[in-house]
Amino acid sequence: MEPFRRSALVYDLIYEQRVDYDWHVANLRDLITGRLPDAKSLAEMAVGTGQILSRMRRWFEVVGCDISPNMLAVCRERHPELDVRLGDYSTIDLGQSFDAVICVFSSIGYVRTVDRLHAAFENFARHLNEGGVIIVDGWLRPANAIDGFRSAETVDGNEATLTRSVLARIRDNQTDMLAAHTLITADGIEYFEERHHMGLFDDATYVDALQRAGFSGITVEDGFDGRGRFVGVLKSG
Ligand SMILES: C[S@@+](CC[C@H](N)C(=O)[O-])C[C@H]1O[C@@H](n2cnc3c(N)ncnc32)[C@H](O)[C@@H]1O
Repeated sequence: MEPFRRSALVYDLIYEQRVDYDWHVANLRDLITGRLPDAKSLAEMAVGTGQILSRMRRWFEVVGCDISPNMLAVCRERHPELDVRLGDYSTIDLGQSFDAVICVFSSIGYVRTVDRLHAAFENFARHLNEGGVIIVDGWLRPANAIDGFRSAETVDGNEATLTRSVLARIRDNQTDMLAAHTLITADGIEYFEERHHMGLFDDATYVDALQRAGFSGITVEDGFDGRGRFVGVLKSG
């Protein structure tokens, strides 16, 4: 089943308990303005349910895109003020360029292969003004990915309780992650599974792909879950 087809509805239930969004948006803003103090516009590639973009709108004019119609439907319902578009971040044309482009919380892993990593970064570069800032959160590094990794967590929301169990296998430099969900609401108990295939790249591969796409001054900051937050600027010429 397509990732996020069913879990879009419960994504915020999990992440709101796991993630300090206010810390992340302050960190992203500081990383952007530290390199481009007058930055005014921002695009988020893989906007999901809009948790980050809706908060970044305090400081920037924002646009977002996502490949999942279901994630966008949740995003539009919760944040009707946001301009979000359906499309693949490797190919979409948002029709303008920005002072910053971000792709966070490991959404880049869905490229799966190095060739597609290059294509995505080239498209991010196409959407940046000269001197614009790129920020990308990596997915797991090959050395840290565990074949047979298992986890389970239960989260309680106002209207639902969700248990999410994960089994991850490593194949062809990718994680093949099966996520099983049991969702309990007043209407009953629902079970569904999803698969997430994500590419495992080391730091050097991310940095090389960013440089090939025209980025310089690349640093690796603390990001989401210790997966590295890559920051660079689009160099002139
Ligand atoms: C872990 S979520 C992160 C969402 C959001 N950035 C956040 O911080 O909450 C990953 C998102 O990446 C999106 N995604 C995966 N591949 C994509 C692609 N090729 N183009 C655009 N979005 C993609 C998924 O649909 C999903 O919404």
